[in-house]
Amino acid sequence: MHHEFPVHPVPANFRDAHINAEQYRSMYQRSIEDPDGFWGELAGEFLSWDQPWTRVVDYDFTKGEANWFDGGKLNVSYNCIDRHLPERADQTALIWEGDDPGDSMHITYAELKDHVCRLANALKARGVKSGDRVCIYMPMIPEASYAMLACARIGAVHSVVFGGFSPEALKDRILDSDCQVLITADEGVRGGKKVPLKVNADKALDACPDVHTCLVVRRTGADVAWNGERDYWYDELVGGQSTDCAPESMDAEAPLFILYTSGSTGKPKGVLHTTGGYLLQSAVTFKYTFDYREGEVYWCTADVGWITGHSYIVYGPLACGATSLMFEGVPTYPNYSRCWDVVDKHGVNIFYTAPTAIRALHSEGDEPVTSTSRASLRLLGTVGEPINPEAWEWYYKVVGESRCPIVDTWWQTETGAHMITPLPGATDLKPGSASFPMFGVDVALLDESGKEIEGPGAGYLVVKASWPSQIRTVYGDHQRMIDTYFSNYKGYYFTGDGASRDADGYYWITGRVDDVLNVSGHRMGTAEVESALVLHEDVAEAAVVGYPHDIKGQGIYAYVTLMHGHAPSDDLRKELIALCVEEIGPIAKPDIIQWAPDLPKTRSGKIMRRILRKIAENELGSLGDTSTLADPSVVDKLIADRPQP
Ligand code: PRX
Repeated sequence: MHHEFPVHPVPANFRDAHINAEQYRSMYQRSIEDPDGFWGELAGEFLSWDQPWTRVVDYDFTKGEANWFDGGKLNVSYNCIDRHLPERADQTALIWEGDDPGDSMHITYAELKDHVCRLANALKARGVKSGDRVCIYMPMIPEASYAMLACARIGAVHSVVFGGFSPEALKDRILDSDCQVLITADEGVRGGKKVPLKVNADKALDACPDVHTCLVVRRTGADVAWNGERDYWYDELVGGQSTDCAPESMDAEAPLFILYTSGSTGKPKGVLHTTGGYLLQSAVTFKYTFDYREGEVYWCTADVGWITGHSYIVYGPLACGATSLMFEGVPTYPNYSRCWDVVDKHGVNIFYTAPTAIRALHSEGDEPVTSTSRASLRLLGTVGEPINPEAWEWYYKVVGESRCPIVDTWWQTETGAHMITPLPGATDLKPGSASFPMFGVDVALLDESGKEIEGPGAGYLVVKASWPSQIRTVYGDHQRMIDTYFSNYKGYYFTGDGASRDADGYYWITGRVDDVLNVSGHRMGTAEVESALVLHEDVAEAAVVGYPHDIKGQGIYAYVTLMHGHAPSDDLRKELIALCVEEIGPIAKPDIIQWAPDLPKTRSGKIMRRILRKIAENELGSLGDTSTLADPSVVDKLIADRPQP
């Protein structure tokens, strides 16, 4: 544990935060002892209901079932827009900052309502009904949020697919959840480069005959191929629609969205989130974790294609009536000061990003930061992967000038909202620790045998009771939900993460304990990359592991065994990388490919990944027992051939 780094106590200007240390302790205790009372009160305080619930929570982890606010009815888009109009019609809901530093706009709550209603009416005109699935494959433009909220308004279920995914990945996701409508753009723009979204969509849709409508936002005006029976320009179909669309009153447990995420086996899973519990926990955590105050400008740099974008660009902030900034570009374009220039331009008070971005900016030195003002900043946050204390300290001292607390928020696509995080007015910060569980989140550490560890120690991170924004099912495959999350340890939700707890009760997340990689905060199954590699006809076998990478957190290390008679070459290496990009997307490019004539296997033929991981990590002194291998000499050969990263 990182005791060499000093603890940062709650700063004086956070003594009047929404939650102080004493309030945290008593509210936390109540939330665990009386979840019905606790969440029932917050549900009344944070959300507007069309019809009250008859029961707060009922769940059964052995069946992977959870039901929150049974009998209650509400609409998410009404909660994020309409109910704010009496006092906030002219307040900015979204600030959009384009890739080009000269491009930005403000969208008020009143304008947001008009945009969302028009699109909702357009979707209805195309036959979309409550419960139908709509795929959203978009760049970071306001229409991405309109699309999510328009679906929510009419009870349709959105499935946002990250704009960096390949046509193949898009196709799989459209088919898995049987989406019949796709919303996309002609092109995206990121870091001065164009992303061919419509070209990708066309390729994907070739294999999706049930998609009857493809709605295309004109972002760059590029010349794109057109299918007259299926494709509609967004401005043409949406522009003329009415700005009134009555929000559909939805059951608290009605599906709100599906979001695909990677696991240790098979294809990505469609994580399903529902209406009431999800919106409640994203709103509550938004307000308390970020200590959001009236009128502040909040910026989360995530892409809406990930859960962070769902919960903390769109739903959480808008449910709280906040001003949320959406950024189309990348932190390094046109230069390394971009984030801080945007902070100064829009007076950003709260800034939330991923450790990988902090490390990339840190590696460029202090000047791009110190040449900007950043006087508006009050709070900083991180999410997505463990943050090394060195990066934390730099973020704290240089970016935040030692006056902004950092909230290191641990959570997952499946948890929907923050689970373990400091609260800035309540928690003394330890660099690298996500610190304490959020209200209502009952976490524990289990040892190898599944026994709960008391006091300080390290083990598997699990959750002992349902929380409002938990995953409800894996779309179309509830058994997979049970097998993945509720079978390893009976009666617990298994996170897939390892963690330790220190003597003060602080949690330190150490990372995944399964075959899931976290590359620049992007989650990826090793099996997905392996499946892409073995598609090549020259490849006999592939094994993929992670290794520590200075900027990305983890890099992708692929061991590739070729078919008999095939020789490695630079061309082949390029073809293999191209295959990963084609099958998954640029984020899945292997950093290192090692040609492996043989892989270390047990006598029964199982690949010993533990050993491959050690070699990739260059931890050659701790390979462990290799005597059970069918041929131990394989290991020496791999070590001798190890490429220099
Ligand atoms: O390993 C943990 C890591 O990211 C995983 C979840 O990835 P995803 O579903 O894509 O969601 C990312 C954004 C919520 C977790 O299992 N992770 C997330 N936040 C942290 C983290 N690891 C350490 N510290 C964090 N703050």
